Formats: sequence, C-alpha cells, structure tokens
Amino acid sequence: MNIHEIRSSYLDFFKRQEHAVIPSASLVPENDPTTLFTGSGMQPMVPYLLGESHPLGARITDSQKCFRSQDIDEVGDNRHTTFFEMLGNWSLGDYFKKEQLRWVFTWLTQEIGLNPNQLYVTVFRGNESIPRDEESVAVWKELFSEVGIEAKDVDHSERDGMQGGRIFYYDDTKNWWSRSGSQENMPVGEPGGPDSEMFWDFGETLGFHESSEFRNEPCHVNCDCGRFLEIGNSVFMEFKKTETGFESLPQKNVDFGGGLERIAAAAADDSDVFNIEAFAGMRTTIESLSGTKYQDDTNAYRVILDHLRAAAFLIADGVAPTNKDQGYFTRRLIRRAVRFGRNLGITESFCGRVGAQVISEYAPMYPKFEEMNHVIQKELESEEEKFLKTLGKGEREFKKMFERAGAISGEDAFVLYSTYGFPIELTEEMAGEQGQEVDRETFMAEFKKHQDLSRAGATQKFAGGLADHSEATVRLHTATHMLHQALRSVLGDHVEQRGSNITPKRLRFDFSHTEKMTDEQKQQVEDLVNENIQKDLPVHYEIIGLDEAKSRGAIGLFEDKYAQLGGKIKVYFIGDEATDEYFSKEVCGGPHVERTGELGHFTLKKEESCASGVRRIKAILD
Ligand code: ALA
Repeated sequence: MNIHEIRSSYLDFFKRQEHAVIPSASLVPENDPTTLFTGSGMQPMVPYLLGESHPLGARITDSQKCFRSQDIDEVGDNRHTTFFEMLGNWSLGDYFKKEQLRWVFTWLTQEIGLNPNQLYVTVFRGNESIPRDEESVAVWKELFSEVGIEAKDVDHSERDGMQGGRIFYYDDTKNWWSRSGSQENMPVGEPGGPDSEMFWDFGETLGFHESSEFRNEPCHVNCDCGRFLEIGNSVFMEFKKTETGFESLPQKNVDFGGGLERIAAAAADDSDVFNIEAFAGMRTTIESLSGTKYQDDTNAYRVILDHLRAAAFLIADGVAPTNKDQGYFTRRLIRRAVRFGRNLGITESFCGRVGAQVISEYAPMYPKFEEMNHVIQKELESEEEKFLKTLGKGEREFKKMFERAGAISGEDAFVLYSTYGFPIELTEEMAGEQGQEVDRETFMAEFKKHQDLSRAGATQKFAGGLADHSEATVRLHTATHMLHQALRSVLGDHVEQRGSNITPKRLRFDFSHTEKMTDEQKQQVEDLVNENIQKDLPVHYEIIGLDEAKSRGAIGLFEDKYAQLGGKIKVYFIGDEATDEYFSKEVCGGPHVERTGELGHFTLKKEESCASGVRRIKAILD
C-alpha cells in the first residue's frame, strides 16, 4: 500500500468509529505564538484537549502535515525526515485506553495487514507522581493473545535488552508525552500524559548489530540501531502540570499520532522510509540529473529528498525563503539541498524540477499544490539561483579561511553569511566535516553589530511598528497599550505581551496568564481602560537609553526591532508629563493618538485560551 492508500484507509476506519474527519491545519500555527511550526497533530487541538468543546464532537481524526526543524541534522539515516504526515485520532473526553489500543491494533493488523509478530509496544513504567500504566498492559496482553501471541511484559534494561518481552516499561523520558517532553520539562499549565508506543521489527537478519557501532550493545525497541521503527503513539492525555506536580484535566483524552511514511515502510517491510513510492519520482529526477544512483550516496539523496519536499510544503503554506522567522528554515533547507546536489555532481538547476515531482505526487491530496504550482517552482528555482551565484566562491573562501587558521572563527562565519549567503548552520556543518566547531557567540555578536549599523544607516527616523497607519488602527494601538497596563494592574505583573494583531475593526492581544479571567476581572480591566480614556490623558514619547527605560519602569518588548536605534529605545508614555505620573509606559515604535480622549469607548469582546499559559483578548472601540 502506498501512503495515499494508507491515509485513506486510516481516515475511513476511524470514520467508521464515528470520528469526524478534519483537514490538515497549516504548517504555520495560527494561534500559537509559542512555536514556529506545527510539529505534531495535536498542536491545533490543544484548546479542545484542555476542555473547550469541538464543533464537530468528541471524536476527531485527520492526517496533519508536520515540520520538525530540530530534526534537520538527523536527516540522512533510514528514518528521519523534517516533514512528515501524522495520522491522528482524538478522543476529547470520550473513549479511552481500551478502545484506542484495540482500534489502532486492529487497523494496523487487519486493514494494513501488518504481522502482529513483528509488533512490539512500550508503556509508562510509573514514578512517584503517576502510577504504572497497568491498564494499557492488560489491554495489550488481551490483544496479542487474541492473535495467538503470549505477550510478556518486562522492565526495560540497558544491559539485558529484549529479555523475550513484547511489552516494555520505560520511564517518562520515553513513555510520557507533552509538547515539551518529559514530566520535568513541562511548564505549569501544559497538558500531557503517559503514552504507549508501537514499534515495527524489521528483523535481526538485517545485521545491524554485526556491522555497526551498536554491535556490542544489546538491542531494545528504543535503541537507535535501526532494527525497530516507532510507527505510532497513543497518548493518554489526562494530566496538567501544576506548581507542585500534576492535576487531572477536566476530561480524559486520547491523542494518537502515527507516522504515515513509517507505517508505509513497515507495510513494505523495508527499513528505509526513503524507499516509499512517494519519493520515487523525485529520486529518478535526481538520478538522471546527477548520473548517480541512490545507493551511491544515500545520505546526500536523503537530504535532498527530505529538504526539497519540506521546502515545497512550506512554500505552499506561505513560507517563502527569507532571512528571518519561518522563512529562514525554508532558505536553510533549500541551500543545504543545493550544496548536497552539487556534491552529487548536479550542474544544472534542479530544485524546481524536484519540486515539480513533489507537486505531482501530493497535489491529489493537497489541492493547494495545484494553485501554488508556479509559486512553489519559482521560489525553489530563484532561491537556488541566488545561492549558486555565491556558493562556489563561498566554498573557496571557506577553504582559504580554514587553511589560514585551521578553523573557522565567528567573524569568518559572519563573512560567509553576509557575503556568500551561507546560513550559519551550513558553515557549522562544513567546519564539522573538518572536525572543527564555529564560535557561535562571536558570530551572533557580529550579526547584531551589523544589524544595528544597517538599521541606523537606512533611516534616521523610526518606522512605525504598525503596518497600517489609518486612524482606526492607531486608536486601537493606543488602546492595546492601555489594555496591557490594565491587565497588569488587575491580574499582576506576570502579564506580558505574547502577541498583538490590530485591524481597523478590532485589537487582538495575547498575554501570559494561565487562568481563565473571571467576569469580575474582565469588568475591572474594561473599567480601568475607560476611566483613563475619560481622563483624556496626553500621550508622548521619548527616546532614551535601554537602562533608563528599564529603570523608569517601561514595559514591553525591549527587543522590538522598530523601537530600537543604536542602543536607544522609543518609549510611549500615557499620562501627564508635568506631574510625571503615567498610566502606561511602554516600549514601542508607534504611532499613537495624541490624547486618550480620542479613543471613545473600550469594550472587551472575548477572552479565551490561545496556547499553553497564554490568553487572548479581542476588544473594540466605539
Ligand atoms: N502527540 C503525540 C506525538 O506527537 C501523538 O507523538
């Protein structure tokens, strides 16, 4: 079965179990300022896992596009990719362990046809805060026994390996899932829970242990030798981190994630996920352009296949290559692929051509590829072209620098970045190939120095932090400052801005706070803003040193790029200069109204959760 057949089979199966099928969310999270990319299927589901009701009910299923930027350096082995599709099903306070494990086992063994003899599972071992997951063990034993397998449960041990086990207990670094990993790493308010992972066994006959660095280590399902591949994970999300430990969420949830391509690899019983059919067209293109075969340099092929597919998906979701934020990753992926392509001996432009193969493979499932066809190819081609102009020279420069000093300094890395367009990670990788590290701190210091200079040189006056300077937007901008201060006065000084978005119709403000606001608190905030509007306070700004701004109690984003100029910062004061008493002091690029009386009446329309530990307010002026 190819990935498209597996995806349909999964969604159909869960539809039969009364799940609503939803489309994949964008790779760029919409309402989550805490992360750049959607890296798991549950991210868009967080509000519902925390208890908000989902409009489509308590059973949801999808196949979610995911991008894990932290895995860029892992790409090259038989199973890691930065982009992947995660099959997901969720119980939002509905079914729990018994149904979940049975359904996923049934789907894998009966619909996909995986041999249960090659399936192994893990469960949470338990610790002082959360007990051992006996319930999952009992369900697994029953499921395996129904297919004639006696499933022995054993405690994982580095020394003893498999011990004839089928079910393995691991600690919370392996069998606990939250967006921030283990129990200890979770911030207060974060949801998580014990999980049960499933592994496919490609078999000892692959001989990894005879020929690899793992040959002296006993194999176990979570070891990295490549014999086992994790294909799915059922998270029993029923807890929330507190200051002192854990408390139960309002409901017991299931969050299942299955790696679509990994399941396809298991179905083909081929341990190399890059051998799945979805990569075939791209691979043939690279083979014919380079005159090499996949087997000649699997590492280079895997990097190109993964990176260009990921870049195509990112561009389709609006992330063109740039120098900052999400776009920086698209740039890094393409440039890294270009370098590996050159190493394979490709001399012509190839990124657009490989991109065309990604589009034809995925367009039936993702109609956006059809619409964005030209944009995707053009972005890939022009990024490749830009980088190719300097790549050869940059490589020669790198070589010279290296020969001169036997290493690449932070300053050298900055020259490679600014003159030749080498992402710092690429320079680090090239230095790594020579057994050297790059001093990233010096690189960052150079980067910062250059940024300040170019900003100061480009313009001697401040550009506003607001894209739209219409009167309605400016009034809402001033109201945002007043709201920020009012929240701090009512809820406390832990309130900090996490995001802000203003249209001529409304303001939207995200801030750090874990609890839902009470009606009384909302009223107090609204009243405080309106009182200060009625006082018709003057608004002015001063450009002062960072330290002075801090000592005078200014709040806000000190790193705001619009507000800084050569170590100085722009601060807006709302209140009377003569008495030096201000309602609000906030770092900001502006613009703002002259007097608060211009704002009219402030109304808080909505207060809701927007990410873990972050609340969102929408408000209007009339
Ligand atoms: N959220 C779980 C994971 O990403 C299913 O593994």
